[in-house]
Amino acid sequence: MNIKELKKLVSDMSLEEKALQLTQYPVYELDEKTEAVVTGLCDLGGIDREVLWRTGTILNAPNGETAQSIRKTRRGKGIADPFPFMLDVIHGYRTIYPVPLAMACTFNTALIEDCAELAATEASCDGVDVTFSPMVDLGRDARWGRVMEGAGEDPYWSGEVGKAMIRGYHRGGIACCVKHFAGYGAAEAGREYNTTDISERNLREYYLRAYRACLKEQPEMFMSSFNLLNGKPILGHKEIMLDLLRKEWGFNGVVISDFGAVEELYEHGYCETGRDCARVAIESGLDIEMGSSVYASYLPELVRTGVVSEERLDEAVLRVLELKNKLGMYENPDRFTDIQKRDEVTLSESGRALSRRAVEEGSVLLKNDGVLPLKESAKIALVGPFADEHEIIGNWAGKGRIEESVTVKEGVESLLQKNVPYERGCSWKLFETDESGFEEAEHICAQADMIVACVGEHMMNSGEAHSRADIRIPEIQRKFIMRLHELEKPLVLVVFGGRPLGLSEIEEFADAILYVWQPGTEGGNGIANLLYGKATPCGKTVMSFPRSSGQCPIYYNCFTTGRPKKQDMPSALSGEEWRTGYDDEYNSPLYPFGYGLSYTEFEYSDFKLSAAKMKRGEKIVASVKLKNVGKRDGYETAQWYIHDLFASIVRPVKELKGYEKIFLKAGEEKRVYFEITEEMLKFYTDGGKYAAETGAFELYVGGNSRDCLKTNFELVD
Ligand code: GLC
Repeated sequence: MNIKELKKLVSDMSLEEKALQLTQYPVYELDEKTEAVVTGLCDLGGIDREVLWRTGTILNAPNGETAQSIRKTRRGKGIADPFPFMLDVIHGYRTIYPVPLAMACTFNTALIEDCAELAATEASCDGVDVTFSPMVDLGRDARWGRVMEGAGEDPYWSGEVGKAMIRGYHRGGIACCVKHFAGYGAAEAGREYNTTDISERNLREYYLRAYRACLKEQPEMFMSSFNLLNGKPILGHKEIMLDLLRKEWGFNGVVISDFGAVEELYEHGYCETGRDCARVAIESGLDIEMGSSVYASYLPELVRTGVVSEERLDEAVLRVLELKNKLGMYENPDRFTDIQKRDEVTLSESGRALSRRAVEEGSVLLKNDGVLPLKESAKIALVGPFADEHEIIGNWAGKGRIEESVTVKEGVESLLQKNVPYERGCSWKLFETDESGFEEAEHICAQADMIVACVGEHMMNSGEAHSRADIRIPEIQRKFIMRLHELEKPLVLVVFGGRPLGLSEIEEFADAILYVWQPGTEGGNGIANLLYGKATPCGKTVMSFPRSSGQCPIYYNCFTTGRPKKQDMPSALSGEEWRTGYDDEYNSPLYPFGYGLSYTEFEYSDFKLSAAKMKRGEKIVASVKLKNVGKRDGYETAQWYIHDLFASIVRPVKELKGYEKIFLKAGEEKRVYFEITEEMLKFYTDGGKYAAETGAFELYVGGNSRDCLKTNFELVD
């Protein structure tokens, strides 16, 4: 279809049909068994079943067969309009790979892209046309459950991950949706759906950067977020939804609300009626209302009474039709839905292998006193609530099936080709107190040479609506770990989590800590490969690990403040007073952004700059020698950070500006290069311009944001 034909379709629609194009409900609402009148969470509007069949798009694709049958039923009702199915394909469709936070720890955009393509291929064969991904909300507060879905605390890297996911989805044949626009990650106290208060400068400098970066890969959609921002729900911010997103950034794709968020304008205390919710939303540039029907209930009348222009309505409808047109749905309404191909590509060996590699590259080795990798001859006892647990595929796991995942026990026994002694020991439940399983676990540990304990938080204790005020491993497990430690045997902790958990109380009891996040379908196999050295850990954490919940939010790219501490110690221990910090806690995280160990060691030396002064418009080149000084081959991710020492708006003590993931054989060395440009020194200055300011800079390079080599350079006019 060309634009003229699409515009004709729009002009031929009634106001009611236009409003329905902009309405999206979940597919279960089409089920005859669901109650007749379909409303939203606040019950401010409502449409009946027959009308629901006429909406422009639908949420939650069931499967290919049902998608085809629903489309056929619609055509049978005389509805020629194509009908895209949209679904949260967040980290896999049926072959589930690690949660996005783990994928970001791989620092491997090619792998991220390949996994997204795998997900899109499985999904498109099964009737999915659009995914509500990538989520690029900045994740600085580990108490917020949705850090699991993002790429961590760095705006630049979050953008790189989002771009790679978009490229992968497009390669796999589905459209995508950048979310949640905007600032959702700044929920006060990490409390889900809570208020956010972000200055325009911080929005642009940190919270919006990744969304903007994603535009380079032409995402088809954006999703507006739930949160109140600076006293108004996001849909009340025309200066963000229209002036910034549409005009300044030039995004002309579809903007969809989050589920029920249009009606929630009422709950927020911003709109008094459903009619007002509809007016505010359509005037904000929102195209599709998800999960409620104030558009369907009130837009026709708002246009008839001249409150809303029909032109605005037509713009929104045209964008939805353009999305369908881009998906090729006017030529082929079923697109790539292909049951036979689906059954061939789903859960394929190659897909599982890719997912397994993502486990191996996304897991982060936080501690290793030489006990890893394990020898196959070692007599281990495998214990803990996640040792033989299938529920490790993560929240938002698409159509992934728990029973299709590989547990750690299954993975280890498959690798060793023998059974290993196993006892659960305790439950993973929050507030669990039953210690009755400890004894059996201690018994098998007493017979073993070393203990592998699989602990952490359950996959449903992170993700949407799963914030935690106490980010530690649940108490029952901490007690269990202490009991294991008292057995005085080498203790390896394999930790599952959708967020960086507070490990400081148990860190000292472990001889090794392998952080596997929520690893997905191939979790057990990938973890076994890491434990036994078939794969060498190379993941680098993209979120700082807090020592305690009280430190949250904690992130590396913070400001020095006017009274930086001289010693990184709790003041009550160091006696250092009147300085930024706590009496009873460190300022530093337990493990910093960019941190992750390997089974080999890497050495950085001979750090050089092509010049100490850089003129505007020119560039200088930094280089460093990187050597694998250990006994095993492995990957290292060299990270480059910059600090603008003095500026009209204070700059963070470090900002990640580049990285390079390098494979080095044991003993091999390479010189790594990094180009510094004026562009990467730019920021939103006090004058409001986006520009670099002359002056002194520090350049850091290292294997994490803390342990770096440092040099200086100057930007001059
Ligand atoms: C949810 C989530 C959003 C998701 C949408 C559709 O509430 O906030 O990320 O895409 O609803 O499932």
